[in-house]
Amino acid sequence: MFTDVLINCSHQIDELTCCKKDSSPCNCVSALMDDYSIRPDSYDCIKKMSTYSVRYGPAYISEVYHYLVATNFTNFLTTPITKIISLGCGFAPDYYAIKKYRDMFTTSSIISYTGIDRSTSWEIARPVANDCNFISLDLTAPFSLSGANVVIINKVFSTLYRNSMHTSFLTNLESEIRRLPQGTVIIFIDINHYNMGRDVFHTSVSSILPNFTRYYFDGHHESNWVKIHNNNLILDIPEDLSVSSLESTGSTVVFEYRK
Ligand SMILES: C[S@@+](CC[C@H](N)C(=O)[O-])C[C@H]1O[C@@H](n2cnc3c(N)ncnc32)[C@H](O)[C@@H]1O
Repeated sequence: MFTDVLINCSHQIDELTCCKKDSSPCNCVSALMDDYSIRPDSYDCIKKMSTYSVRYGPAYISEVYHYLVATNFTNFLTTPITKIISLGCGFAPDYYAIKKYRDMFTTSSIISYTGIDRSTSWEIARPVANDCNFISLDLTAPFSLSGANVVIINKVFSTLYRNSMHTSFLTNLESEIRRLPQGTVIIFIDINHYNMGRDVFHTSVSSILPNFTRYYFDGHHESNWVKIHNNNLILDIPEDLSVSSLESTGSTVVFEYRK
């Protein structure tokens, strides 16, 4: 499924013109690295989002997949319909991972996925399927998690934190968490670095959801954190893509909170 996305995105990268206004060379790979290291990140360029999907997509899908396997997530997929809401979903790496996991570890629970993100520049990389839909909205304004069994906050908190927009997001999130039924799982996935809001998120959400487990792939960990050992890519990468993909998962944490 994602292999076709990689090929389509690669074509887009070759064909789209650069959005830069100055005459310096167009290089979306270094633009993404600059977004991470020296300036606020932005998600409004289709060419850059196609590059992100090829460069980081396989690794980010693999991270979610390895978390699902490590936690034996099938035990959670017991309701007839699992309604997943992903906040700051981007191209929906979590959807691709969950579908792959569901195919490998057959469960009867039907998936219903809603991705929320204010950027619409991801469309070429997003899945087109009956069991998923996307809503464009700003997560610093109130949002609803009504009906969700699984809420995923996937690498959006670091963006909000770096741009000093995390406080209103946390206020909205906490008020929605209070309304969710017992048994809901909230999954936080983000960069394993204190400068990227990891501990701010945990301090806030664990105060209302004290039943949690913290997983990590690499880097910083504390005595009760659980290592996820698998770090390989779970997808075949086509040859001759215009941008190379990362070859393994990164330094990422997955914090799981159960209501
Ligand atoms: C680093 S990307 C993560 C995308 C995807 N979840 C992933 O794991 O690759 C951050 C995402 O957060 C979205 N985002 C940032 N600020 C937002 C806001 N205030 N409201 C909604 N989405 C936002 C961006 O548009 C972008 O898609």
